Amino acid sequence: MNPAIAANQQRLFLAFVAELRPHVRRDSALPRRIKEAFARHRAIGSRDRKLYRELVYTYLRFLPWIDPLLDARPDAAAQATAWLAPELKPTAHYRAALCGDWPPAPDSLAAKAAVLGARLGTAPTPEALLPDWFREHCPAAFASPHLDALLRRASVWVRIQAADPALVLDEFRARGWSFDQPADCPAAVRLPPNAEVAATDAYRRGLVEIQDLGSQLVLAHAAVPPGGRWLDACAGAGGKTLQLARLLGPGGRVDATDVRPEILEELRERARRARLDTITLVSAPAGTYDGVLVDAPCSGSGTWRRQPHLKWYVKPDAIAAFARTQRQILAAQAPGVKRGGQLVYATCSLSHHENRDVAADFLAAHPEFAAEPPARSFGGEFDGLGTLLLPGARDSDGFYVALLRRH
Ligand SMILES: C[S@@+](CC[C@H](N)C(=O)[O-])C[C@H]1O[C@@H](n2cnc3c(N)ncnc32)[C@H](O)[C@@H]1O
Repeated sequence: MNPAIAANQQRLFLAFVAELRPHVRRDSALPRRIKEAFARHRAIGSRDRKLYRELVYTYLRFLPWIDPLLDARPDAAAQATAWLAPELKPTAHYRAALCGDWPPAPDSLAAKAAVLGARLGTAPTPEALLPDWFREHCPAAFASPHLDALLRRASVWVRIQAADPALVLDEFRARGWSFDQPADCPAAVRLPPNAEVAATDAYRRGLVEIQDLGSQLVLAHAAVPPGGRWLDACAGAGGKTLQLARLLGPGGRVDATDVRPEILEELRERARRARLDTITLVSAPAGTYDGVLVDAPCSGSGTWRRQPHLKWYVKPDAIAAFARTQRQILAAQAPGVKRGGQLVYATCSLSHHENRDVAADFLAAHPEFAAEPPARSFGGEFDGLGTLLLPGARDSDGFYVALLRRH
């Protein structure tokens, strides 16, 4: 690569970081701010935009290793970021230009820290890459393989919702994408990092949806029997609503609701694309259900690899506030579960304050419910009330799911 091009890219990367830096610990909507910053630089082509996106997200992932270098040694900060960035087509030339004489980045964080320390004379530690207060919330996240997984770029997972998977997989093959499918969750497919799923025919025709494996495994744990009537009480854009409708089959019904009615419009569109006519959007659910899914609003620590800014934005008091909301939502939804039905409580948080503690308080206040172990384990750990899946177990987002049966 022409050194002047790389120098220009480094300059622009540092300019983006300088613009974003004051907002990192303050703005929960940092991804929108990042997009807007890129959009203001109209001259950037789409390949370069992908480069800057990878660099900025690497900076956010490895903030405690990179940030202290920025003021006094910006070249070293840019070099560290380039070397830590994922090896992808959009980053390849830039990485080679800045770190051509560095060894290839090893997989483990401990080995990365050792190389970086030797190269830059710093003393990075893997544990510093998570906020210290989080240790009490989830000690396992601070050790390998979960710490390494939380610092990796998220894999691209999709869920096949076509009756015939070949309709989707043949197109992936034709595009030259390699993929793999977990034997215990065959609808899930992991694609190469830059697979543009939304540009496929299969996506346009509603035969496939983008959905992380962790998210898919929540309902896999619940082993939903076909044909029932369910409520998705926190449906959002409907990732799990669509999956639930598929699991219930043509004889089942799903009512979907959310406190943000506007987000349900996205679900309406996705249901139309998937030709699922068993989903109804409701503003005030009525009656009782065979199952109620509470995919609760949470701190999102299980998604820190795809939302690294949340690691620095979320604080313990926000987690306590989420836990209060989670308790309220569960208590409000409990009467809507039929006798014999299940209340599925899920979060994408790794904090016991939002998970086990919430489930325990709910059960203490609702003796008509009891926790059930999942019929099968998908690599998570059942704590007697629910299952925690850590990101290193399956290369997925982390989540917690408690299956609460009404007697
Ligand atoms: C984790 S997200 C849901 C994601 C969604 N189930 C999916 O799989 O794509 C949580 C959702 O809960 C909604 N929410 C927040 N407070 C709520 C409440 N009190 N009642 C119902 N929904 C609520 C939020 O608007 C948000 O869409």
